[in-house]
Amino acid sequence: MCGIIGTTGVDDALPILLEGLHRLEYRGYDSAGVVLVSDGVLWRARRADGTHSVEELFSLSGTAPAGAHTGIGHTRWATHGSPTEENAHPHLDCTGRLGLVHNGIIENHSELASELVAKGHTLTSQTDTEVLAHLVEDNIAGGASLVEALRAALLRVRGSFSVAVVHADDPEVIVAGRRATPLVVGIAKGGTLLASDIPALLGRTRRMIPLDDDQLVELRPDSVRITTLDGEEIEPDVRTIDWDLEAAQKGGYDDYMSKEMHEQPQAVADTLLDRRKPDGALVLDELRLTNEDLERIQKVFIVACGSSYHAAMVAKYAIEHWTRLPTEVDIASEFRYRDPVLDDRTLVVGVSQSGETLDTLQAMSEAARWGAKVLVVSNVVDSSMARKADGVLYTRAGPEVGVASTKCHLAQVVALEILALTLAQIRGTQPAEAIALLLDRMHELPDKVEEALGRAKEVDAVAEAIAGARDYFFLGRGVGFPVALEGALKLKELSYLRAEGYPAGELKHGPIALIVPGTVVVGIATRNGLFEKMLANLAEVKSRGATVVLVADDDDDEAAAVADHVLWVPPTEPLLSPVVNVVPLQLLAYRLARMLGNDVDRPRNLAKTVTVE
Ligand code: F6R
Repeated sequence: MCGIIGTTGVDDALPILLEGLHRLEYRGYDSAGVVLVSDGVLWRARRADGTHSVEELFSLSGTAPAGAHTGIGHTRWATHGSPTEENAHPHLDCTGRLGLVHNGIIENHSELASELVAKGHTLTSQTDTEVLAHLVEDNIAGGASLVEALRAALLRVRGSFSVAVVHADDPEVIVAGRRATPLVVGIAKGGTLLASDIPALLGRTRRMIPLDDDQLVELRPDSVRITTLDGEEIEPDVRTIDWDLEAAQKGGYDDYMSKEMHEQPQAVADTLLDRRKPDGALVLDELRLTNEDLERIQKVFIVACGSSYHAAMVAKYAIEHWTRLPTEVDIASEFRYRDPVLDDRTLVVGVSQSGETLDTLQAMSEAARWGAKVLVVSNVVDSSMARKADGVLYTRAGPEVGVASTKCHLAQVVALEILALTLAQIRGTQPAEAIALLLDRMHELPDKVEEALGRAKEVDAVAEAIAGARDYFFLGRGVGFPVALEGALKLKELSYLRAEGYPAGELKHGPIALIVPGTVVVGIATRNGLFEKMLANLAEVKSRGATVVLVADDDDDEAAAVADHVLWVPPTEPLLSPVVNVVPLQLLAYRLARMLGNDVDRPRNLAKTVTVE
């Protein structure tokens, strides 16, 4: 997730771009940069200084050419290529007369890069973005206008993009386009603007046009022309935004948690992007291990804390089932001190949204000390863990502001399942057709998550019906067990209610003593090999007076028959089901917390990144 800003004609471009970049920093702040069009040349400034990148650009203002009224800017959340100045946007073409910024992922960047290099282009960064600048350059050299050159370039790329480009030969024009990542046009006095979201433009105008997928826009100081990628003219739909700035930063949602839950389909889709090479081979982001290293592995440990630990638990089922590799899951703060048995044939996978959690970081150092191969699944490029590990798999969820993890947790489950399939492929434990089919099913997950989110009103009704209960049990079997743990954790963190996650079959060995009339039992009862047993366990609690809420596959009457309330979800492969099934539990915890008046973005006593033991 990156942020884009652009302006032409409104006023001096630089202050507008810098103000916009400040507001877009929540989308990523690994680096920031601007390009101004002035007197027939481009002036570019870039800084890669983490949270200080935009400030650093401010300090360069004095060296910028005076009176430039056209420019574009970018704040980066690194996906391809480290967060360095050389990888910061805007990227230039070979002539230095074209500047381009991009948010999204160009899946086929490697093949495009090879083609461009063969034609004589020089690429200077490790980003997937830079190929776009050179593709546009190539089309201009062939006689196309800037807009036609961008159109032709975008027709060649696979993946997601919002992109904006300026050219020294067309000093008042910005051309931009989007697919699957946001872009909004602003109409102000004297000029026009462009940004990744509404708040970035709010101090300048309230008249905006949200672009749709596969649309291109040509911005000039006095006009906005929108066409589809196929060249069809579109009548601009100008809207007046009446949100205040805070509401706008939350994208119109009441809080960041809501916004981030609704970003989950995108987080899952982005984490899946670009993982399969044309020959079917699966790729991780940075793998400093050979296939031979991975073939020699005899045992896997997955180490994490909190919600990341629950994602790790799901992965244990997937890795053992698909690869037959013995897999242990460990709480990071326990792993390090319990003298685990590790050697150079052990793979230790650290899972951490932040990549900075001290317990997990130290567990990984301990694993490396014993000579184990270390992989990390992280949401932050070049985080401490990513730098230490032998291999990295990034969850591309974008920055998560809400303290209780939502979109990062879903992206972790998806990333770990990709890792499981990669191991199965390298070790030859699953036929190619089975891996291809599972990947196809994984690509259906964003739509299923979207569907589950679309049922928030039904979840709210269940929350209303059970509100007031004192004790909650979340039960699951198989991969439903970590889902139950995650549901209970979300409820504890957000609503401060007593909630226990338990393996359903284990309840009768003790905790069933706590079930009394009025206890709420939330069961994960989507179809898998343990469905019948799960229903039997639920019958045991129901007969003791519990109120039973079930997560069940759409239209499953057999499940509904044992429930007082049902949270319906679209069915999917059992091993992939945690990605969908956790969504109604997030929504339930959210609603119960809101009903109690709690701050869902900043639950009491918690911190987003825990860097103490
Ligand atoms: C729960 C939550 C925490 C984190 C845990 C690990 O909603 O957010 O339990 O999952 O602190 O953090 P990371 O993944 O950054 O290592």
